[in-house]
Amino acid sequence: MILNGTLDLSADPGGIAQAADLLRQGLLVAFATETVYGLGGDARNGEAVAGIYEAKGRPSFNPLIAHVASVEAAQRYVKWSDRAEQLAAAFWPGPLTLVLPLSEGHGISPLVTAGLDTLAVRVPAHGTARTLLAEFDGPVAAPSANPSGQISPTTADHVRAGLGGRIAAILNDGPCGVGLESTIVGLAGEPALLRPGGVALEQIESVLKTRLHIHQSGDLLTAPGQLQSHYAPDAPVRLNANSKQGDEVLLGFGPVECDLNLSADGNLTEAAANLFSALHTLNKTGRPIAVSQIPDHGLGAAINDRLRRAAAPRDS
Ligand code: TXA
Ligand code: MG
Repeated sequence: MILNGTLDLSADPGGIAQAADLLRQGLLVAFATETVYGLGGDARNGEAVAGIYEAKGRPSFNPLIAHVASVEAAQRYVKWSDRAEQLAAAFWPGPLTLVLPLSEGHGISPLVTAGLDTLAVRVPAHGTARTLLAEFDGPVAAPSANPSGQISPTTADHVRAGLGGRIAAILNDGPCGVGLESTIVGLAGEPALLRPGGVALEQIESVLKTRLHIHQSGDLLTAPGQLQSHYAPDAPVRLNANSKQGDEVLLGFGPVECDLNLSADGNLTEAAANLFSALHTLNKTGRPIAVSQIPDHGLGAAINDRLRRAAAPRDS
């Protein structure tokens, strides 16, 4: 079915085959992953990758993650290492992205890496994403499928609301289970946490048996995760709120009286899965958003990272 010029594909063999075909033609397909919906294009095709930046309105200096079907596929594009092997064995397929030096003859468009000599790679765990990647049999550059700076999409409806009419198709496979973007670990130098996400820092440090360098904004690497205002609803966001003030709606956590609760049981995994959907829903009320305090351990660190950016001062 075509809605507004963007095909609505279901996640069955026919829909997935059609999505792979569109990617081969250099067109853009949004697809479900376990973290958030990604806006995919062939990472070897400069025009396709340029189309991603254009559809999102994304500053072109922000590099993209290449998604592949397997560890073997990743090894075609990056120089592998012992630490990469340890983390891949523990967390792939899954919500972890590794930044590694590009291999010789990698064939990746320089628009994907924004001219860096490293590449971010990830093997997603989501069944449909994996089938799509295996069928396409190539690297798929995919940022989150939302207009740059806005709330990340965890349903096909979020994608359609943000990018409908600007991309070829959406491969619809329901809500995303993890609900937060992947954790990004830099392995080109000393191991570093470049973005907190779906795998907790504590888990990564326990596998590597070392502390990660924590990325500070102002460091050399530029990432949208590092742009101050990001994941931003239209309305102002106030953090660590005990109760509502004025016209606010309250996004709660744990046993609090609120308009919407991320997890009434205080479960961080559940809260992560609900976060972006809750922000999309509250954004529609047009009222300012207050958010309860969220513990900062485990997935809470990634939730708080997204919330701080949602609350950050806006450029415009
Ligand atoms: O869960 C995810 O990671 C989702 C799904 C679709 O897979 N993708 C995603 O992509 O969040 P995006 O483009 O919204 O975020 C990619 C992040 C950015 O912060 C970018 O700067 C960083 O990865 N990145 C990409 N390549 C990099 C590189 N070579 N060095 C350092 N950071 C890099
Ligand atoms: Mg994003």
